[in-house]
Amino acid sequence: MILMGLAPKLFILLSLFTTIQLTSSQQRFNDSTPPPPPPPPPPPPGPPPISPDAVLCNGVFLSYTYSTGTQIKPNDTKSQPYRFESVITVLNNGRDELKSWLVFVGFAHKEILVSASNAILEDGSSLPVSVENGTTFAGYPAADLKSAIMTAGDVTQMEARVELVGTQFGVAPPDVPLPKNITLVNDGWSCPKATQRDGNVLEVCCMPDPKNETGPIGVKRRQKGDLTIMYDIIRPYASSYWAQVTIENHNPLGRLDNWDLSFEWMKDEFIFQTKGAYPSVVDSSACIDGPQGKYYSGVDFSNVLSCARRPHIIDLPLTKYNDSNLGLKPYCCRNGTILSPSMDPTKSKSVFQMEVYKMPPDLNISAIAPPQGWQIKGNLNPDYKCGSPVGVSLSEFPDPSGLPSNRTAFASWQVVCNITQPKPPSCCVSFSSYLNDSIIPCNTCACRDCSSERVDQTCSTNSPALLLPPQALLIPFENRTKFATSWAELKHRKVPSPLPCGDSCGVSINWHLTTDYRRGWTARITIFNWGGTNFADWSAAVELKNAAPDFEKAYSFNATTVAVDGKNTTVLMEGLPGLNYLVAEVDAKNPSKDYRVPGKQQSVISFTKKLNPGIKVRAGDGFPTKVFFNGQECSLPSILPSNGHKGRVSTFLLLVLPVFALLSLIWV
Ligand SMILES: *[C@@H]1O[C@H](CO)[C@@H](O)[C@H](O)[C@H]1NC(C)=O
Ligand SMILES: *[C@@H]1O[C@H](CO)[C@@H](O)[C@H](O)[C@H]1NC(C)=O
Ligand SMILES: *[C@@H]1O[C@H](CO)[C@@H](O)[C@H](O)[C@H]1NC(C)=O
Ligand SMILES: *[C@@H]1O[C@H](CO)[C@@H](O)[C@H](O)[C@H]1NC(C)=O
Ligand SMILES: *[C@@H]1O[C@H](CO)[C@@H](O)[C@H](O)[C@H]1NC(C)=O
Ligand SMILES: *[C@@H]1O[C@H](CO)[C@@H](O)[C@H](O)[C@H]1NC(C)=O
Ligand SMILES: *[C@@H]1O[C@H](CO)[C@@H](O)[C@H](O)[C@H]1NC(C)=O
Ligand SMILES: *[C@@H]1O[C@H](CO)[C@@H](O)[C@H](O)[C@H]1NC(C)=O
Ligand SMILES: *[C@@H]1O[C@H](CO)[C@@H](O)[C@H](O)[C@H]1NC(C)=O
Ligand SMILES: *[C@@H]1O[C@H](CO)[C@@H](O)[C@H](O)[C@H]1NC(C)=O
Ligand SMILES: *[C@@H]1O[C@H](CO)[C@@H](O)[C@H](O)[C@H]1NC(C)=O
Ligand SMILES: *[C@@H]1O[C@H](CO)[C@@H](O)[C@H](O)[C@H]1NC(C)=O
Repeated sequence: MILMGLAPKLFILLSLFTTIQLTSSQQRFNDSTPPPPPPPPPPPPGPPPISPDAVLCNGVFLSYTYSTGTQIKPNDTKSQPYRFESVITVLNNGRDELKSWLVFVGFAHKEILVSASNAILEDGSSLPVSVENGTTFAGYPAADLKSAIMTAGDVTQMEARVELVGTQFGVAPPDVPLPKNITLVNDGWSCPKATQRDGNVLEVCCMPDPKNETGPIGVKRRQKGDLTIMYDIIRPYASSYWAQVTIENHNPLGRLDNWDLSFEWMKDEFIFQTKGAYPSVVDSSACIDGPQGKYYSGVDFSNVLSCARRPHIIDLPLTKYNDSNLGLKPYCCRNGTILSPSMDPTKSKSVFQMEVYKMPPDLNISAIAPPQGWQIKGNLNPDYKCGSPVGVSLSEFPDPSGLPSNRTAFASWQVVCNITQPKPPSCCVSFSSYLNDSIIPCNTCACRDCSSERVDQTCSTNSPALLLPPQALLIPFENRTKFATSWAELKHRKVPSPLPCGDSCGVSINWHLTTDYRRGWTARITIFNWGGTNFADWSAAVELKNAAPDFEKAYSFNATTVAVDGKNTTVLMEGLPGLNYLVAEVDAKNPSKDYRVPGKQQSVISFTKKLNPGIKVRAGDGFPTKVFFNGQECSLPSILPSNGHKGRVSTFLLLVLPVFALLSLIWV
């Protein structure tokens, strides 16, 4: 009886073993066998009850629902962190498809976002990231929401659900850390103020804006920004495509030197070849070990340029312009220089093309996803922060055949990048005046983050920089100490101990007020390069709020006033032909006796008082309120030279650059 009962069970057990063995031997010998189906996913949590307000909404209904939260480590009564989980839903109850949805959530409890499903952050930042000032979510990988009309009311195609997990500070459960705001930011839509329901839901119904100015459905207006990058598909094929990337500078002061562009492939794409630019690292090993090598088994990967998930692309040198393999593209091959349109419109953009190979399941001529997470940086340039690519109206290019017609791209995305002030900067300013023989030097620690503990204790990070005698301005900081301390002794000033730290700036700019007379005034600007690289086509700009309209001329620079943010208060300067190089610091002829020599450029610059006769030049109007070098804003001293301590008229720089000395003498 017992045996008879066991037999069928044994049989079942045995047959179980054989099945398992069969599967594993199949796997060992046949790679293309589909892997065993994954275990069924846990049943999804029941959909949240559809809000009665969603039913009443005939536009796009947004909701933010807080689900749960718990206290997390560390235990800290002052700033206690908590985990939160919440869900954003975007429901298209409108008549038309909603393309590329974008939802702004105004977080208000110092939230740090750790994960988000079905969406990415519009500014391209990767998680975890602080979203304390609110953030905009963009749908990803699906970004479009169909309408009920198109889907016979299938909510799964009309709605996006974004599940968030993150950390917030200070709101202990059962209190609910709701954001203060949630809005749809797509063009052509407007939302009233969001309302709160049941204590844990924030919701709003957005309707088409009566002042809708957008083009046809799904086509966003191109946005303005300091720098724009276009990702245009010019030749699509089933498994690959050619993209043309156009980087264009629109800011009158912004610029890039040796630009380095990077982005992140989201679907295992790789770059087969490029024209007009090149990956900074050529490496296809990631493909050989990855799924790409398996799928494209016929491709010789030694010819593939880059398989990096985040490739870095750099411009080609001038010498490659006529190279028939790599160059011959208009706007390519300028060694990564993008000037401002006010300096030279023909050099304010860079263009390159690349051939991109796609991977399953995107082997379809129309399945193209632009890379995300765009970043661009230059050498001693402003910092740019880029948004994510947004589909826009198709770009047009001159027909390559030379016929007077245009050819449109197959798809076009735009990435907008804006300048953010880097902290800390890499250039600084010193002020001086003909009325005072002490120079106000660059601020202590102007170009490095001295708040970090790693700074050695041999110098003081918070004492103000020591005033300098004129001749010390030409000497590297590390050799200035004896000049600065004996100058302090001479002027009966206290010398702090330890001495203040240096400015650590690669470039410094001296602004010296040279004259102030009844009908005008002059200043002398000197740019020093203390670093190891030459700056070709350098540019500098000074904002002079009250004086710029009366700008007359710069004697040794090419200078004009430019409008920045609509205000005509900035003078932009660049080198005249032949003087457009700011060379690196070099050793002196006799290094054992003499100090290292910085690269220098200098000009006198003159102003009238026609438009602003009451201008107070010495009291401050004659000193810039902002200074830029190669587009990057420089650190300014916090005080101005006072009208005391008048010594001999300073002639220190006149000795250095005799040509300018003559010019200056005329004006002093
Ligand atoms: C692997 O198995 C599949 C289906 O069973 C078959 O089509 C394929 O030819 C096999 N491949 C090899 C390399 O044996
Ligand atoms: C957290 O700290 C508070 C006071 O600082 C204390 O009363 C409480 O017991 C601590 N909780 C835990 C879980 O350590
Ligand atoms: C949020 O805004 C404040 C004040 O403008 C700023 O200091 C802070 O850096 C911002 N935080 C982030 C993450 O951008
Ligand atoms: C809500 O966010 C939008 C940004 O999309 C902002 O313009 C608006 O002023 C905010 N409203 C409130 C009440 O904070
Ligand atoms: C804005 O207007 C365009 C046509 O001009 C229309 O196709 C689009 O759907 C409108 N947008 C909204 C949100 O209604
Ligand atoms: C960049 O600045 C422009 C205007 O100055 C603004 O309209 C745009 O939203 C900004 N874009 C980003 C990504 O910050
Ligand atoms: C490229 O070729 C053209 C015509 O042959 C020539 O004028 C130009 O100087 C060349 N450019 C470079 C950078 O060699
Ligand atoms: C191009 O840039 C590199 C730095 O990346 C520099 O070393 C080189 O001198 C530059 N070439 C020219 C011709 O300016
Ligand atoms: C000064 O710069 C402008 C704009 O780039 C240019 O058109 C002009 O020819 C330059 N002048 C001189 C003297 O180089
Ligand atoms: C071609 O496109 C450019 C802009 O890219 C435009 O200025 C020009 O008028 C167009 N030409 C034709 C023939 O459409
Ligand atoms: C700015 O001011 C200068 C000098 O006053 C003038 O020549 C120029 O046209 C002005 N530019 C703008 C954009 O207003
Ligand atoms: C300047 O300072 C550096 C670093 O301390 C030192 O190596 C160099 O000899 C000094 N130069 C002179 C001429 O004293």
